[in-house]
Parts: sequence; structure tokens; C-alpha cells
Amino acid sequence: MVQENVKLHDLVFQPFISAAEIESVVQRMAKTISEAYAGEVPVILGVLNGSLMFLADLIRNMEGACEIDFIKLKSYEGTNSTEKVNELIGCGNLRGKKVLVVEDIVDTGNTLEVLVDLLHKKEVADLKIATLFLKPEVYKKAHKIDYVGVEIPNKFIVGYGMDYNELGRNIPGVYQLKA
Ligand code: IMP
Ligand code: MG
Repeated sequence: MVQENVKLHDLVFQPFISAAEIESVVQRMAKTISEAYAGEVPVILGVLNGSLMFLADLIRNMEGACEIDFIKLKSYEGTNSTEKVNELIGCGNLRGKKVLVVEDIVDTGNTLEVLVDLLHKKEVADLKIATLFLKPEVYKKAHKIDYVGVEIPNKFIVGYGMDYNELGRNIPGVYQLKA
């Protein structure tokens, strides 16, 4: 199938990673994560809205029991990360739980830093981070990211849950901003 460019608002995006490639990355991550949590019941904590597709596909491919919960944070305006991160929807009681944070993408790590702080205050027993995409050129924070799907260059992407000003989340593959 020939994939074509997509236009969202004023910007054009070109095919970057196909839905089939994403599927195999997610399956591999699900296997690794299932093995790491064997015999335990982790809380899979999705960071809304971007992680919705990744979280759904990840838990579908995981073996063993898990709980799910969500938190909503926002740091992006348009295609720029902002320093200020807002908590828009809070999660349930996580005290004493083993929590796996599920992110669509870690860019500057500002969101992650705030989230890690917040979850430590909620007295979680254990905290690990999984992200489908990481921009290593941009991520300079100290916190270790335990599970990374794909490392990508510092270019804005959309699709598979990720948006440009709320458009593009429903596209099954991932598209990159055309220069
Ligand atoms: P950070 O705080 O800069 O690490 O950005 C984290 C959040 O911004 C991610 O969870 C995404 O929701 C969003 N984000 C970061 N990079 C991109 C991108 O390339 N495309 C779409 N959303 C992004
Ligand atoms: Mg996100």
C-alpha cells in the first residue's frame, strides 16, 4: 500500500513508521514488560491523550493480570514543548502499587519529570516508564526510561495517538513533519 502525505491544519506530514512496524515494536515491548512483571499485578498508567492507542495495543499483547488507570497532562502548544505542565485529570489511589507509566513519546522530558514527582508523592511502591518513542537528542533529564520502543530524530510526528493541535490521533501509522 502506498502511503501518502497527510495535511493537518496548515502543516504537511510524510509517512514515517507504518502501522505494521508499530505493531511489531509494541508486541516486542509487551513481551519484555510481561516477563518483567511476571506474577505481579502492575497498574498500567496511561498519559492521556497521546498514549491511548499504544496503551490499548500494549495491554492487549501483555500476558498476566494488570490494572489500568489514566492521568491527563499537557505541555504542548502546537508543535512546541512548553516548560509548564498542567494536570488536567488526576488518577486513582496508587499507594503501594507497582506502576508502569505509558507514554506515547518522550521529548524534553518535562512532562515525565512532573509526573515522576507527582507519583512519588502518591507513594507508589515501584515506578517504571515505558514510551513508544523517544527523541534522545532532546531528552536530557536524569530519570531512566525503562522501556523504549523506537528512538527517533528530533522532528515532530503525528498519528497512532499523537496529534498536531488535536488532529491526527486516529491515523494508524506515524507521520513526520515535512521540512
Ligand atoms: P515533553 O514534556 O517535551 O517530553 O513532551 C511530552 C508530551 O508532548 C508527549 O507525551 C506528547 O504527548 C507530546 N509530544 C512530544 N513530542 C511530540 C511529537 O513529536 N508529536 C506529537 N506530540 C508530541
Ligand atoms: Mg503524551
